[in-house]
Amino acid sequence: MKILVVGSGGREHAIVWCLKQSRQAEKIYCAPGNAGIAADAECVNINVDELEKMADFAVENKIDLTVVGPEAPLCDGIVDVFKARGLAVFGPDKEAAQLEGSKDYAKRFMVKYGIPTAKAATFECACKAKEYINNEFASGADGIVVKADGLAAGKGVLVAPDAKSACDFVDGCFGGEFGSAGAKVVIEEMLVGEEASILALCDGNTIIPMVSSQDHKRVFDNDEGPNTGGMGAYSPAPVVTDEVAERIDKEILQVFLKGVQSEKLNFRGVIFVGLMISNGVPKVLEFNVRFGDPEIQAVLRRFDGDFAETLKLVTEGRLAEADLIWSDDPAVSVVIASGGYPGKYAKGKVISGLDKAAAKGAVVFHAGTAFDADKNIVSAGGRVLGVSARGKSIDEAIKNAYAGVKEIHFDGCFNRSDIGAKAAKWLKK
Ligand code: AMP
Ligand code: GLY
Repeated sequence: MKILVVGSGGREHAIVWCLKQSRQAEKIYCAPGNAGIAADAECVNINVDELEKMADFAVENKIDLTVVGPEAPLCDGIVDVFKARGLAVFGPDKEAAQLEGSKDYAKRFMVKYGIPTAKAATFECACKAKEYINNEFASGADGIVVKADGLAAGKGVLVAPDAKSACDFVDGCFGGEFGSAGAKVVIEEMLVGEEASILALCDGNTIIPMVSSQDHKRVFDNDEGPNTGGMGAYSPAPVVTDEVAERIDKEILQVFLKGVQSEKLNFRGVIFVGLMISNGVPKVLEFNVRFGDPEIQAVLRRFDGDFAETLKLVTEGRLAEADLIWSDDPAVSVVIASGGYPGKYAKGKVISGLDKAAAKGAVVFHAGTAFDADKNIVSAGGRVLGVSARGKSIDEAIKNAYAGVKEIHFDGCFNRSDIGAKAAKWLKK
């Protein structure tokens, strides 16, 4: 199989790394890729928003399977463009991608099919939204969640402890802070509990969850500081006990599949369900229509099946035939970021110790790296690397991942030191 992976982050490196182990993968391209991906695939200089150019490349190079990493090209309709050319592509089409691209669309889908989620209302003007917020606090709410409707690179959500901050955020949305993404806002009841991520493969006929995982969204230890794209992940998430997993399958995934079928959505890809779990009851916080990053780094470290074959079967509507094999060994991935992230940060810092980390047994996924003029690998983004490892226990996986992290350095780099600690604590309860 000739395979094209679209994207350039840690998620795409993990996907390429896993595809490379497939006996069916004859050649792997990644567009545009990064300095680390270049060691595992041939990088192609096409950006993720150049949909026609990407499809031209796939046709010219007789690509058998294209895997789309990020949400933006999915919401822009890359799958529609590829399908029109008769190309096999992993991901939902433009209409189905609204499940991530519009929080209002996703909420209406959940309500229509009875998927458990937070109570919410959508507004197209600030004054009605603020009136709703004030009423919720007047009726005793402890907090409220304001979400810009469209894609806002993870910045369009505020969990507000009081009416003033919620109303200020509403003003920001309608004031154009998130561009057209803020033209509508969804205001939600604040849920409490523990979060977990379920990435489920779905081909429109069958839905199968991958192993559970958990991200760490805040930038600093003990979940302090602002939200980021994700500072590290572990799998499995112990909060997803067998009983909880059963409820997720029955109350969320199977209902989701029924909804996809009833709406006649073209969904052959992965649905990433962000969950809040409280006393064993799972509720949906959000849908994403692509693999979570860094969640997929930890999840794929545990995948022992044939990834290329599995994803190809999804594109053919034959997921039921796939053999998903998982290791029982937990996995952890720790993100190393540039100083200042998620705010302003410097780029172009030379990275050392990558070989030493690999010698310690870690697999280092590159998220934001590039080559400089002297062919050094340098930092080129906020999240720079994901250092991943497996272990016989979560404690051992944590130890192994941090043994790799210790070897790596670049000017200003930092990482959280408590990735996985929550899982380890859970298991010791
Ligand atoms: P979203 O992009 O919708 O997942 O929101 C980003 C983050 O905001 C989630 O991972 C949660 O930490 C938080 N969040 C979103 N919705 C809620 C909610 N209804 N209650 C509490 N926290 C939420
Ligand atoms: N880790 C969260 C995300 O991929 O959106």
